[in-house]
Amino acid sequence: MAAIKTIGILTSGGDAPGMNAAIRAVTRTAIYNKFSVKGIKRGYYGLVYNEIEDFTSRSVSNIIQQGGTILKTARCKEFATPEGRKTAYDNMRAAGIDALVVIGGDGSLTGARIFAEEYDIPIVGLPGTIDNDLGGTDSTIGYDTALNTIVDAVDKIRDTATSHERLFFVEVMGHMAGDLALNGALASGAEAAIIPEMETQIDQLADLVNRGFRKSKNSAIVLVAENPSTGGAMGLAERIKKEFPQYDARVTILGHLQRGGSPTAADRILASRMGAAAITALGDGQRNVMIGVKNGELVYVPFSKATCHAHRVDYADIDLVKILSI
Ligand code: F6P
Repeated sequence: MAAIKTIGILTSGGDAPGMNAAIRAVTRTAIYNKFSVKGIKRGYYGLVYNEIEDFTSRSVSNIIQQGGTILKTARCKEFATPEGRKTAYDNMRAAGIDALVVIGGDGSLTGARIFAEEYDIPIVGLPGTIDNDLGGTDSTIGYDTALNTIVDAVDKIRDTATSHERLFFVEVMGHMAGDLALNGALASGAEAAIIPEMETQIDQLADLVNRGFRKSKNSAIVLVAENPSTGGAMGLAERIKKEFPQYDARVTILGHLQRGGSPTAADRILASRMGAAAITALGDGQRNVMIGVKNGELVYVPFSKATCHAHRVDYADIDLVKILSI
């Protein structure tokens, strides 16, 4: 294997708070270890369309506290084709890039795995997504910040829900995983979380109503993970109107505000540690792995495991939400 001299870095897919902290850590750790760094704009799009620039340690000044990504991000259709990846590879080699650090979620790391296999390129991934839906890691960069944003929003919704004695469905992101809904419910004291992982097992809405939550409370907040299988917050509110018209239900969809904002300290620390670990991994000859965190320790997770949808919510927490909201 040829020695790595120049490392390219990109962010891809949905942005997540802490991506900038990761870009900073990758860049500065690489430069500290005598690698050159190139920033690739707009994810894989920047490889296909040759938007690549030299990075110095000053390129990442004053960004640790910023949400979003200074490299910008995109979902690149061209990169999904063999022709697009060939162009990306040619541009990457012409820019002198020997290895890549890819920061993104499931789709971005799947793209990285295919690209690495096709062209025998060393690639290390960092889990950058608010959804916390990747295998082999307890947390992803951006998840903690999004969770705190959700809690802040639900605290506010609770004021009006209590005043009007209403049932609120609050829809949160996480199209493949219920972590934001479930842990958001735990942290905000919500009455239930409706998550895709449980949808085939029980009718979660009927379960909530049959629990008789209304006996001890006049208002209720239910966090719903966006996913066609749960019906989403709108779908559930429609059902309430038809099946349980005695409840006065309202819907709030938190949407993309969950992706913004300054990263929490936890996300900045995670991103900094993972960013540095990506450079150590490349220096040690690791390739085609994502940096994960398990029980507080950084681990290498093969791309195939990170993206195989093996991530599981903690099912005990579903009961805990119910117990703590009696
Ligand atoms: O970042 C992941 C995610 O937030 C998903 O939960 C959500 O479904 C999706 O991104 C929305 O992406 P877009 O910005 O393309 O609408």
